Amino acid sequence: MSAPAFSPTRPIAYGRQHITPEDVQAVTETLYSDYLTQGPKVAEFEQKFAAYVGAKYAVAVANGTAALHLCALALGVQPGQRVITTSITFSASANCVRYCGGEVHFADIDPATALIDLKAVRRLLESQPKGYFHGLIPVDFAGLPVNLEEARQLADEFGLWMIEDACHAPGGFFVDKGGREQRCGNGQFADLAIFSFHPVKHIATGEGGMITTNRQDLYEHLLRLRTHGITKEPALMSRNDGGWYMEMQELGYNYRMPDMLCALGISQLTRAEEGLRRRRELAARYDAAFADAPGVQLLTPAEGHAYHLYVIQVADRKGLYDFLREKQIFAQVHYIPVHTMPYYQQLGWQPGDFPLAETYYAHCLSIPLFPSLSDEEQLYVIDCIREFVG
Ligand SMILES: Cc1ncc(COP(=O)(O)O)c(C=O)c1O
Repeated sequence: MSAPAFSPTRPIAYGRQHITPEDVQAVTETLYSDYLTQGPKVAEFEQKFAAYVGAKYAVAVANGTAALHLCALALGVQPGQRVITTSITFSASANCVRYCGGEVHFADIDPATALIDLKAVRRLLESQPKGYFHGLIPVDFAGLPVNLEEARQLADEFGLWMIEDACHAPGGFFVDKGGREQRCGNGQFADLAIFSFHPVKHIATGEGGMITTNRQDLYEHLLRLRTHGITKEPALMSRNDGGWYMEMQELGYNYRMPDMLCALGISQLTRAEEGLRRRRELAARYDAAFADAPGVQLLTPAEGHAYHLYVIQVADRKGLYDFLREKQIFAQVHYIPVHTMPYYQQLGWQPGDFPLAETYYAHCLSIPLFPSLSDEEQLYVIDCIREFVG
């Protein structure tokens, strides 16, 4: 099949933000308000986001990486602690452990889903005495939720805490043994969950992130850590010199998310379900288009998939990537396995350590998927890919 006459007026990226006049108005109103840093929009965004994912508490932070760092701190990661994650993720999922001096360990993926393989996690846990590992960071890669009910069982058996990296999956869910939908970040199984509002994500604020939890102790600790380790709560202070008084009780950071970005987040959140529906619609169309395409391998679909990314696997990935760029289609690769990054190689990991992740990396390509992708643009993408694979 040859590509149709349609020619894109702008490069078609693998993902992009969708900003409406309502978003602009929400930000503008906040700019004219009394608050540029933390004001009422922060609390409103936190409360609405917590309700959206079904968690008790939410803490807005500077970005997803800051969210991961604060989670690792709140869970007490320190030198000598060992934490397991997947190699097919953005490096921040692993780096948060390193920020706190902990050791990162990886488990290989399930090639059908590209998610961390919980059987491989079990093998790793069983290879060492209990207490050797301290935490688990499953990643809802591409928007496909990890079965956290199973992960929790494993975590409980081996005494691990759990951070769900749900950056790709706001609105996603898995179905538990009882048939109930368990939304990503709802705090039922993971101690903490984190989200990013980077422009390609479901909710885009430029920079921005959120931590959700059902644990009040962690919530209160995170509020302090996000703002220098300072508290102004009279009940928590060792003394009170007057109305100005506050105490820095531990070493924290300035990881706050400003009011104007929270206003943008609130506005974007009102369209989250609509965006999710469109992502699922586009993904279903890709599924159908490539079901019989020679040499195109797809990941296993799932009902609760949030489709941050649509990944195909082909033999000649570089060839297809270059071909699509000539056609103004800017696909992307997610991800270069974290354990093969030079930094992690310096720590002792090597190519060959996680063969399924490496094979996946050799063939994967994320093709355009975002709510404002038009039907016409998507058909063009499909036709170009089919033209290449023959
Ligand atoms: C899986 C995953 N974790 C963490 C992050 C870090 O988020 P941010 O870019 O907001 O720091 C990202 C985002 O790019 C991500 O995709």
